Amino acid sequence: MEQPAQAGGARPTREVVSFVRRSTRMNPGQEKAWAARERYLVDVARNETSTSIAPGTVIDWTAAFGRVAPLVVEIGSGTGDSLVAMAAADPGRDHVAFEVFRPALASTMIKLNAAGLTNVRLLDANGVEGLRELFAPGSVSELWTFFPDPWHKARHHKRRLVDAGFGALVASRLGIDGIWRIATDWADYAEHCREVLDDHPDLVNVYAGTGGFAPRLTARPVTKYERRGLAAGRKVFDLAYRRRAAQQGHA
Ligand SMILES: C[S@@+](CC[C@H](N)C(=O)[O-])C[C@H]1O[C@@H](n2cnc3c(N)ncnc32)[C@H](O)[C@@H]1O
Repeated sequence: MEQPAQAGGARPTREVVSFVRRSTRMNPGQEKAWAARERYLVDVARNETSTSIAPGTVIDWTAAFGRVAPLVVEIGSGTGDSLVAMAAADPGRDHVAFEVFRPALASTMIKLNAAGLTNVRLLDANGVEGLRELFAPGSVSELWTFFPDPWHKARHHKRRLVDAGFGALVASRLGIDGIWRIATDWADYAEHCREVLDDHPDLVNVYAGTGGFAPRLTARPVTKYERRGLAAGRKVFDLAYRRRAAQQGHA
């Protein structure tokens, strides 16, 4: 199990991470895609764990993509079904996705290769650290967390990706009017997100006036997790938060 990354004690990190690293075994197709990973994978210096990012790491996204374009960040991209479809439909923006499960990254690369996309880069790293270390405040136009691991047991709730600290981090990295999109098929996680985020001083629930949940994002394809949730009789909840301009009297 991954232990939390410590930045030499200089920078507090989450005590727990939102994932457990699973087997890295790959099928032949994934092996082949992984062998050619430099086409999509951005390599980073590590801190104490294999999914960490050394504090102070800088990535020049303009150089990485070869152009200046709005940046979309996804944390927990899984096998890339949403990422590849949505990036293909949005060629004017560049997309950076974090995923800690290497076979899933390799599957994403297979799809990226097939689609021939040039506006996607992947990182084999904890997206919480990635968002914090690799993106300047106000530099992200959109952030996606689709079907984050639900961590059902009460004693595991502290592992949930979305918490107040992560909300503050996202708010700091989004540009003014930047959007954070969340989807989950777990009602209690959806409620938890609202409890943590609805009152955040820098975030506005875009659908606060209409019940608080967003209409299903049409650009988002139905992935395995959504299908599984629906098949089990669960409802899927979409949420959208907008980064508001700094309020008067609020730093
Ligand atoms: C339930 S899956 C959903 C995958 C994808 N978003 C989808 O809808 O198909 C959650 C994924 O998030 C990844 N994950 C969890 N915490 C993460 C983190 N802090 N950084 C990067 N990936 C993470 C897990 O490895 C897993 O693949």
